[in-house]
Amino acid sequence: MKASALAHPNIALVKYWGKRDVAYNLPGAGSLSLTLGGLATRTCVEFDAALDQDRLQLDKEDVARGDKLERVSQFLDLVRARAGITARARVITENDFPTGAGLASSASGFAALALAATKAAGLDLSPRELSILARRGSGSAARSIFGGFVEMNDGIFPFSEDAKRVETKSLEEASQAAFARPIAPASHWDLRCLIAVTSAGEKDVGSTEGMVRTQKTSPYYRQWIASVAPDIERAAHAVQARDFAALAAVAEASCLRMHASAIGAEPGILYWNATTVELIHAVRQARAGGLPVFFTIDAGPQVKVFCPADARDACHALLAATAGVRQILQAHPGEGARLCEDFR
Ligand code: PMV
Repeated sequence: MKASALAHPNIALVKYWGKRDVAYNLPGAGSLSLTLGGLATRTCVEFDAALDQDRLQLDKEDVARGDKLERVSQFLDLVRARAGITARARVITENDFPTGAGLASSASGFAALALAATKAAGLDLSPRELSILARRGSGSAARSIFGGFVEMNDGIFPFSEDAKRVETKSLEEASQAAFARPIAPASHWDLRCLIAVTSAGEKDVGSTEGMVRTQKTSPYYRQWIASVAPDIERAAHAVQARDFAALAAVAEASCLRMHASAIGAEPGILYWNATTVELIHAVRQARAGGLPVFFTIDAGPQVKVFCPADARDACHALLAATAGVRQILQAHPGEGARLCEDFR
């Protein structure tokens, strides 16, 4: 009744921002990401009939109550229901990258938890089933089940290359149809991702709250959602062709459209600080000067910068020269979630 798993975070090149349904955690549109090797979450799960409630230890600290424990417990309920067990679990999870680095530790966290918890419960799920399950914990976690370049489906419309539009499904059916799949392995393209940490604090508007507020109050939300499918198609082609300039154009456009929709909410959601904006300008200037580089930003002020492997040092120097950058983390295309040695 015990298993451990490892998963990497991922960064969306075409963003996920908005939910068709909060209870099933169904995305309002698809997304496309790169799984990041070099950074990982390790999670150990042990079901134990002697426990009176689920226990969580996160980065060596016991989490006795609150949202994080509740989210994990609700997720474990899905696993228990599926396995037909009632035992509570001890969950120990560790990130080898700083939390609050804007790295969506929920993506690697719920991907590792989905794999470790199902194994510990005696289930043997396919990667697709794991992706569907991980999505219930965090939308982006569905993508971290797979390595390399990954496309996420919204459960309503087919994947980008499928021409036929599917009729609207029930939420239950859509839930089973919303999963990620790999479109190119990590070895396909040696892109590097440098993460410029511009603030140490936790974000003040979480992704779910930000998405729901955008959906309810931003006049730009519909247009944002309508822009996603064409962007996924462009990004998927750019990945297949290893066309850096094309990927740069669509990734920056998707990032800025996502943030524009959030900025248009009421009250407006602005995740950026002054250094975030400095970095946007610095990246664009460097690109105009011939350096292959583009930025993307998630629900926080950190800036993720992508470049081909041979431009890594120049990109690092660019970020290091920007005032306000506190730390630079480096990542490369990584593999999907996998079982690992028990570390406890
Ligand atoms: O998976 P969540 O609920 O943490 O949402 C992720 C949202 C973004 O990171 C902003 C975009 C994305 O696609 O990862």
